[in-house]
Amino acid sequence: MATLNLLFGVIILIKYMIVNGWVYGMANGLSPNYYIMACPIADIIIRNAVNTAVQSDPTLAAGLLRMHFHDCFVEGCDGSVLIDSTKSNTAEKDSPANLSLRGYEIIDAAKQALERQCPGVVSCADILAMAARDAVFFAGGPFYEIPKGRRDGRRSKIEDTINLPPPTLNSSELIRMFGQRGFTAQDMVALSGAHTLGVARCSSFKSRLSNFDSTSDVDPSIDTQFAKTLSKTCSAGDNAEQPFDSSRNRFDTAYFNALQTRAGVLFSDQTLFDGAATRGFVNAYSFNPAMFFMDFQRAMLKMGQLDVKEGSKGEVRSNCRLIN
Ligand code: HEM
Ligand SMILES: *[C@@H]1O[C@H](CO)[C@@H](O)[C@H](O)[C@H]1NC(C)=O
Ligand SMILES: *[C@@H]1O[C@H](CO)[C@@H](O)[C@H](O)[C@H]1NC(C)=O
Repeated sequence: MATLNLLFGVIILIKYMIVNGWVYGMANGLSPNYYIMACPIADIIIRNAVNTAVQSDPTLAAGLLRMHFHDCFVEGCDGSVLIDSTKSNTAEKDSPANLSLRGYEIIDAAKQALERQCPGVVSCADILAMAARDAVFFAGGPFYEIPKGRRDGRRSKIEDTINLPPPTLNSSELIRMFGQRGFTAQDMVALSGAHTLGVARCSSFKSRLSNFDSTSDVDPSIDTQFAKTLSKTCSAGDNAEQPFDSSRNRFDTAYFNALQTRAGVLFSDQTLFDGAATRGFVNAYSFNPAMFFMDFQRAMLKMGQLDVKEGSKGEVRSNCRLIN
């Protein structure tokens, strides 16, 4: 009997280890159950904060998703995008590439609630990763579990934002840039599908509308009618917003349908339909939402683990805007 109990004990322990990712070797120290002992309600608190925010303003889902991307691509997923500038340091968020990042207040609200329940436990980088995940879900996208345990970084410098892809890149340049971070072309197209949410401002695409290059005034990859739509948007100024697709608050495949009709808003969107190595994925995702959702989840899991900081290389900030 005692042997049997011991056996069960060992089996449960092994199962626990697998669930925690130790056996699968999440070498970066992340695990899906990271907060299960120290802050089991972390998920619920964050989900509530995101839910409250997107109920009152559904466009904030896009803001959260984009902010997580900017966090991970600059200095790794370490909450560096949340840091405010100080007298002696100009932070990432004040780069022109911050291009209208939105949703900081949601992270602050979640952080305040978490500090009341379990002070000093949940990192800002994890809050952002979970908030982006919940935003996707509330917008009608897939729900996926993510590993946690990211530590917050102590560096946030305007010059690091050079690591973000500009919207002028063509498909082969995008493949190369994402490839350097371990993403396949398929991952990159799936991640670009994040543009199923949100808007771009005229300043991000106006270079396609006049003096495009030496051979054409208007970017020849845009549908003629859609070029008129974009010009009309821009007639209201550089900050005028153009939704990426017909359903800006719904996580669906309308973005890929738009690319097929040459109604992509950014050059970096439309080029995915022109590149031989990316076009097949655009067509597949447009046709098959389940495949898009699967690939998007997988790519987001990868993105959410870019250069995460371990142990003393990071900290758990008590205010997401300030280094401790
Ligand atoms: C493939 C390379 C990418 C480029 C060149 C790019 C570029 C841009 C640009 C220029 C904007 C518009 C900003 C503005 O005008 O205000 C934008 C918006 C957005 N991006 Fe990307 N992006 C890329 C990939 C991603 C990824 C990987 C994600 C997330 C996983 C993402 C999420 C978003 C979202 C959600 C918006 C809308 C934001 C809002 O409505 O507030 N993007 N992106
Ligand atoms: C983005 O950067 C500009 C300066 O380039 C700054 O004025 C603005 O406040 C920043 N936006 C956010 C949301 O931090
Ligand atoms: C993409 O841009 C690079 C550099 O500007 C250029 O060499 C390459 O030919 C372009 N690729 C495509 C598919 O247009």
